[in-house]
Amino acid sequence: MNARRVCTVVAAAVAMLCAGAWAVAQNADAPAAAASAAGPAAAPSTTASPAPASSDPVLERGRYLARAGDCVSCHTAPGKPAFAGGLPMKTPFGTIVSTNITPDPQAGIGAYTEADFARALREGVARDGHHLYPAMPYPSFARVNDEDMHALFTFFRNGVQPVAQKPPATDLPWPFSMRGLMIGWNWIYLDKGVYQPDTARSAEWNRGAYLVQGLGHCGDCHTPRSMLGGVKASSNAKGDLFLSGALIDGWYAQPLRHTGRPTMAQWPAQDIVQYLQTGRTSHTAAFGAMVDVVQNSTQHLSTQDLQAVATYLQSLGAESGKPGVPSPASLVAAAPQHPSALALRNGTVEANSGAMVYLNNCNACHRSDGTGANKTFPALAGNSVVNAKDPTSLIRLVLAGSAMPSTAQAPSAIAMPDFGWRLSDADVASVLSFARSSWGNQGEAVTAAQVAKVRDSIKPVATAAASAQQQK
Ligand code: HEC
Ligand code: HEC
Ligand code: HEC
Repeated sequence: MNARRVCTVVAAAVAMLCAGAWAVAQNADAPAAAASAAGPAAAPSTTASPAPASSDPVLERGRYLARAGDCVSCHTAPGKPAFAGGLPMKTPFGTIVSTNITPDPQAGIGAYTEADFARALREGVARDGHHLYPAMPYPSFARVNDEDMHALFTFFRNGVQPVAQKPPATDLPWPFSMRGLMIGWNWIYLDKGVYQPDTARSAEWNRGAYLVQGLGHCGDCHTPRSMLGGVKASSNAKGDLFLSGALIDGWYAQPLRHTGRPTMAQWPAQDIVQYLQTGRTSHTAAFGAMVDVVQNSTQHLSTQDLQAVATYLQSLGAESGKPGVPSPASLVAAAPQHPSALALRNGTVEANSGAMVYLNNCNACHRSDGTGANKTFPALAGNSVVNAKDPTSLIRLVLAGSAMPSTAQAPSAIAMPDFGWRLSDADVASVLSFARSSWGNQGEAVTAAQVAKVRDSIKPVATAAASAQQQK
């Protein structure tokens, strides 16, 4: 084979491998998300603190940073000790199992030096030299600075209970078993070098950028991926696709920037902070994969750090964003006067229309003016999910329902019921098309074919929910 052929074959294998490994990263959240959807009784795994608080400020800083990096979500199997690994992540190519990162010298990372640890986090190379799959978000962790790396290492060395149990090894079939393929992938997607502050910006903005691009690995879910499975932009400097919204694990993770449609970047900063702390604001609520992120990670961050995250996200696309996009708050304020609200209130809606489906199924909670109820039922007017280009999350919410995260500040996991068992694809399409064109919203119509596709992809969920409902 000539060199070009070899390159092509390797690139194709890498592409499949990476697509798989990436799908894995998303699937990792599925079991925990399902558990949290079951209600507040299912406590998030992280509330069990791995070790008693110590008096070492560096170690405590490391504990905090481990939360910012959400290490526990991927490195803990259900019902098992924190950080002991063993969470199976299914992929079309086999199952990747997260590793034990407790300080046990044989089963965990007790034999790692600080340099080994930093290399694993920043370059995706384990102590014995094997390459990690990018299910581990090392391309983001590459931004972590030396001081924070030292604190993280201190925490994982002295603040975590060692667990002498090695999870089953990952054993992907050939060619995906060839970890050396990751060298090629890293060559394309791994930007080495810790975060470099932008001196034209404030210290707060830089703090936010550092957290979002680095430990928070927000782009892993919110940035679209290329065919090779790498994010299309890893920072604001790499272009407007950074945090421009992406489909992950069957949910659409909305844009975290200005786009020309209503987005969270227009929310007041205090709403962004509140959302990351409690999973809800007076007009919206977290669902899907974001439930775990809020429960296990962002709720534990300081208000100051969350404020910095808000400042950074609000700046993204602010210059290039189209002027005159109405803010979510202004749409909520105007909604009670909107013709859709008047029609629903006066009962002047046509039979078999989306408005009728809304009146019979949604009106009680989300109200005729689409403004919902403070921190209980999200407003649909001006909502970024309702106005999003991709309607996947909307369809899935209506078919399968969802529950908010349960957090220290807002423990009740208020749920949206599932309607998949009683509404047809056509009903769901018409009610969502109605919501997307009412109360000032400007989302595209939803088709029955789009609903059918999502229904198909979540079949086991929808069926289980339907039978549970029938037993009530
Ligand atoms: C999105 C999921 C995910 C998150 C978040 C995550 N990891 Fe990982 N990590 C993995 C997976 C999966 C592996 C194993 C990859 C493989 O076997 O190729 C891994 C491997 C590792 C390894 C290599 C251990 C070894 O010897 O095999 C270390 C060290 C590590 N992670 C530390 C961390 C730390 C510290 C954090 C938080 C700052 C973290 N990880 C967050 C998924 C994750
Ligand atoms: C595991 C995947 C995942 C990660 C990692 C993740 N998110 Fe999300 N996020 C989602 C999904 C899915 C949604 C859509 C659900 C929703 O709106 O509640 C979402 C929604 C959001 C929203 C609400 C947007 C809106 O318009 O309503 C905000 C704000 C947000 N994420 C911020 C962040 C930040 C900040 C980070 C990094 C610290 C982050 N996310 C990391 C998956 C993720
Ligand atoms: C019993 C009250 C209730 C009913 C009835 C209801 N919802 Fe919901 N809805 C909720 C709750 C609670 C949430 C937040 C769920 C979460 O965050 O996981 C929600 C979330 C949503 C969201 C996402 C908004 C956001 O910002 O998170 C949309 C869109 C939505 N509902 C549409 C509908 C439609 C369409 C119907 C009718 C087919 C409907 N809902 C019926 C309570 C309800």
